[in-house]
Amino acid sequence: MQARPEKPRLAWAVTGSGHYLKECLEIVRELDEVDLFYSRAGEEVVRMYGDDPKSLVPEGRIYRDRAASSPPVGLFYRGDYHTLVVAPATSNTVAKMVLGLSDTLVTNVYAQAGKCRIPSIILACDSEAEVDTPAPDRIVRLWPRKVDLEHTEKLKTFEATTVVENADQLFEALQSRLAELG
Ligand SMILES: Cc1cc2nc3c(=O)[nH]c(=O)nc-3n(C[C@H](O)[C@H](O)[C@H](O)COP(=O)(O)O)c2cc1C
Repeated sequence: MQARPEKPRLAWAVTGSGHYLKECLEIVRELDEVDLFYSRAGEEVVRMYGDDPKSLVPEGRIYRDRAASSPPVGLFYRGDYHTLVVAPATSNTVAKMVLGLSDTLVTNVYAQAGKCRIPSIILACDSEAEVDTPAPDRIVRLWPRKVDLEHTEKLKTFEATTVVENADQLFEALQSRLAELG
């Protein structure tokens, strides 16, 4: 396991959503003391939109979803992280979180952050009835299903969880959390 950082850092999980991906990566690039956790789809989708998953945080650590038991969750137990951001969060990951499932690296870090009472900020990609979203080569119009929107609403009721619905809200929630930490 990696050496413990001098002080707790920010953990940022990226899932396989094209919606808000560019905006999230813009925020990530500006941050210090951040480590990235990719879902398998997250890593693939970042590449499809033209970025290298390994080069987004030159100073930070990168954890990929390669093991069944998600060993990096141990870093949350020992206090390496003060906050978890999951942004963007796919319909799939939000649905799993709402059901309490933890069978991927990202759903696992969310579950374990919750059990350690570490606050999470989630940018759920399904928050509006109709959205124009970037595919890698064009803009497409989508209509998130009732079940997807219901999951986003349900997640808002979870303890230690702030759900945000766009990149501006994410930026504000993150700034406010970082200010609270001093
Ligand atoms: C180019 C591309 C863009 C995608 N964008 C989205 C998206 O905006 N929202 C979403 O819920 N899923 C999106 N997906 C599908 C997810 O990547 C897929 O459901 C995946 O299984 C999610 O896994 P994860 O939640 O573990 O990251 C996209 C897939 C591709 C190939």
